[in-house]
Amino acid sequence: MKLIIDTDPGVDDALAILYAAADPEIELLGLTTVFGNVTVEQATRNALHLVDRIGRDVPVAQGAGKPRLLPPFVPSHHVHGPEGLGSLAAPQPRRAPHAESAAEFLCRSVREHPGEVVVCPIGPITNIADAMDMDPAFAANVREIVVMGGAVDAPGNVTPFAEANTYHDPHALDVVLASGAPVTMVGLDVTLKVLLTETDFDFVAAGNGPNGSFLKEISRFYLDFYKSIGLMGCGLHDPMTLIAARYPELFSSERTALTVDTDGPAIGKTRRANGRPAVNVLLDCDAEAIKAHFLAAVTKVQ
Ligand code: RIB
Ligand code: CA
Repeated sequence: MKLIIDTDPGVDDALAILYAAADPEIELLGLTTVFGNVTVEQATRNALHLVDRIGRDVPVAQGAGKPRLLPPFVPSHHVHGPEGLGSLAAPQPRRAPHAESAAEFLCRSVREHPGEVVVCPIGPITNIADAMDMDPAFAANVREIVVMGGAVDAPGNVTPFAEANTYHDPHALDVVLASGAPVTMVGLDVTLKVLLTETDFDFVAAGNGPNGSFLKEISRFYLDFYKSIGLMGCGLHDPMTLIAARYPELFSSERTALTVDTDGPAIGKTRRANGRPAVNVLLDCDAEAIKAHFLAAVTKVQ
């Protein structure tokens, strides 16, 4: 599977990227970065550090620093830490960012491999909307857009209505949902069904060399945030998005059109709708199998 991860690393983003690196069936074409958990500059620096950790020359192309139309947000440093990797200090990556912008990299990659590239946006989906503006053929050429975002029947996690990635750029998600591209939405309806606990991170640390202790280290701050909101574990949001791209049989979905509230008290709410192309919305999953698979897979990254 040719894959591009669009990301705002971010602790669970880091888990997802190291998970992807452990899968021999995934050809990671590149990472594209976006604001959200951190500033886009921090996201790019953290993504470059993660590429150092996986030890491959994966290009990192910087993208949007703010939403499509909304004013800029303060990053979610209270969730992912001041530098986006828990309490870790700012990493000093060895590599430099890719010359193209995120949208340019996305458009060129998808045009060069029509029908083959899966894109997993696991931050605000601004770069994908930008790519659709840049290349009208993007929606037709991309193999699938498997997006971490939204909450259809589940409550939101930033407001009672809105999930964070969608809240941070509702206009961008609405463009993608209206585009006719093959979209699968991995929202809070499924991602909060698998929580990773401190013990799980101990397991990862024990079985994964330097990257295992890194994941354990960056999880502390993130787990403390979840504890502060009454959860004894952190949602498997971003890694589950990649698992959904690779193993759709572990999920049950509904095909329906969706809209996003782009203003008003429920801004960022994703709703079933008519009159636009249908997408796949994941509503349930085999949580035990997903967690077991993830823990086994992510302990393989050396
Ligand atoms: O709501 C969870 C999503 O918001 C995840 O992608 C997390 O990394 C944050 O970006
Ligand atoms: Ca993310």
